[in-house]
Formats: sequence, structure tokens, C-alpha cells
Amino acid sequence: MIDINAIGSQLERELSQVESLQELQQLKAKYLGKNGLISLAVKSIKEVPQEQRKEYGSKVNQLKEFAEELLKRKEEELKRLQVDAELSKEWVDLSIPIEPRLGSYHPLSLTLKRIRDIFVSMGFSVEEGPEVELEDYNFDKLNIPKEHPARDMQDTFYVNREGYLLRTHTSPVQVRTMLSKRPPIYMIAPGRVYRRDDDPTHSPMFHQVEGLAVDRHISFRHMKHTIQTFLRAFFEREVPVRLRASYFPFTEPSAEVDIGCILCGGVGCRVCKGSGWLEVMGCGMVHPRVFESCGIDTELYNGFAFGMGVERLTMLYFGIDNIRLFFENDLRFLRQFI
Ligand code: PHE
Repeated sequence: MIDINAIGSQLERELSQVESLQELQQLKAKYLGKNGLISLAVKSIKEVPQEQRKEYGSKVNQLKEFAEELLKRKEEELKRLQVDAELSKEWVDLSIPIEPRLGSYHPLSLTLKRIRDIFVSMGFSVEEGPEVELEDYNFDKLNIPKEHPARDMQDTFYVNREGYLLRTHTSPVQVRTMLSKRPPIYMIAPGRVYRRDDDPTHSPMFHQVEGLAVDRHISFRHMKHTIQTFLRAFFEREVPVRLRASYFPFTEPSAEVDIGCILCGGVGCRVCKGSGWLEVMGCGMVHPRVFESCGIDTELYNGFAFGMGVERLTMLYFGIDNIRLFFENDLRFLRQFI
């Protein structure tokens, strides 16, 4: 007969020395493997004399259960230790200094917001229209019929659907607003526009802000005053303003608005090309044909409209000399605008 108690205490002793899962595996084989000490004891049960077999057998089975339980617990403990050891190797160094960086507004966003605020303070609403626009709204309803040479003024991106294009100006928002609202209308429409242009002063996508006022008894003087007030607020100083006769199919009379060069003060420099004046927007009294195509009674109402380039105004305000800087996403440039 094998000494069952001795095997149990031997196992406990040896188990306390085990430090790795590999060692544990070996110990398991030594006791519970095919020829392990406990397995041999199980086999020996049938050799024990009849009268002692029952007691001996139950002792052996208890030992076996005891051993299995002990080994299982040890295995769990070793696995836990292993995970702990691995976790303590991987750690995050919370003491590494990270410089937090606040974002900043794009210079064009800053200008758009300032333009919006100035006009809203004068009682204008802000309207929007789609960038993929109906040819009818972009041209025809603005008195630019199919064969009109004025269509050449604006090299257009056409889209793959008859009757649609990328709007070449924000003026179609005038049309949309007049078609959907009754006068009096005082609105601006900021947004992206597209033209087939690409050089240091032109980008194929740029921004405009359109303005429209429709009411009874609107005169050219209202327009001039509104534009002057806006430019003074925008450049934060008194600026000389000059209206120069011009042509747009959707306004009559039409004018270009010049301001005294804000870089040289009117003496003449590279930016104003020696003239002392800078062109900043187009404007005019809304053409009766535009009113007619938008269902506005020309006996009762008249109005003025204007359109300005946001990139141009931003370049003048901040003294930026290349339009591409707005679209290259160079953080060294962008971070200068808070
Ligand atoms: N739509 C014109 C342009 O893009 C600008 C403009 C708007 C002129 C409104 C007069 C009136 O050049």
C-alpha cells in the first residue's frame, strides 16, 4: 500500500516551490500524468486486500481531487501574475509634456463673420443658395440670355446634367430670395462661387457676398451710403470711396466701387498698380427685367444690389499678397489668425 498522506504533503511542498507555468506542467505530469504518483496509487487500489480496499480507495480519490484542486488554483495564480507582469511593462508616461494648441479661425471665416455682423447690424438678413445652381437662376433670370456676350465674362464650370452649373457668382441667391419672399427685402448672401480661373490673384473656387435691397423709393444714394457705411466698418477707418461707371446685365446703372488704396493711402504703390485706387465690388440698381423675371412689380418697387469678393477684401485687410495661401492649409500661415 502506498502512503497516501505522504504524497499529499509532498505535493504541497513541491507546489510551493513552483514559480512558472512550465514548472507547474511538469509537476502535474509527475502526480497526475499517466505514470504519475497519484495515477499509480489509483491503479494500486485493486491490489489492496478486500477489507481495506474501500477505505484506501476513498482516500486515494480524495487525494486525487485535492491534488487537482490545488494545481488548478496554482495555475490561476500564476496566470494572474503573468498578466500583471506584462501590464507593468506596458505603461503610459503621463509626465511627457504635451503642448496644448488652440485652433484658430481661417482668415476667410473671420472676414465672412465680420461682413455678416456689419450687415446684420444694418438690418439685412442672411440668405443661402446652392453651389450647384440652375443655369436659369445663374444667368437667364439675371438678364443674361443664352447668347449674351456677358456669359463670356464668367468662364463657367458646367455639371453633367442639362440646365445645371456651378454658380459663377452669388447673384442667383437674389433670384431665389425674390421668388420666395415679398418685398421689402434686405438681404446678403455669402458663399462659394466657381470660375475657370487659376493664377496668383484668381482661384477656381472663391467666395462672394451678395447684397440686395428691394423696397419702395430705393435710390442710388441709398446704395452708395450702404456701401460706404459697410466699407468704413469693415476697414475700421474712414476710407475714400469712388463709384466708377461699369456694366452688369442685371443692374442699370452699374458701377464698380473703388476705395483709396489702404496700403499707400492713395499715392500709388504695387498693390494699387500706381493708381491710388482699389476695386472692391460691383453694384448697381436692379434691372427691371430681373424684377420682371422674379415677379416683382416694377411700378411699386426698385432696389440695388452689390457683390464683393471675400478673398480680395481679406487680402487687403490683412495685407496678404497671394490668394493661394487661403487654400494650401499651411498651418504656419493659418495660425497667425486668431
Ligand atoms: N455678380 C457680379 C460678379 O460676380 C457682382 C455684382 C453683384 C455686381 C450685384 C452688381 C450687382 O461680378
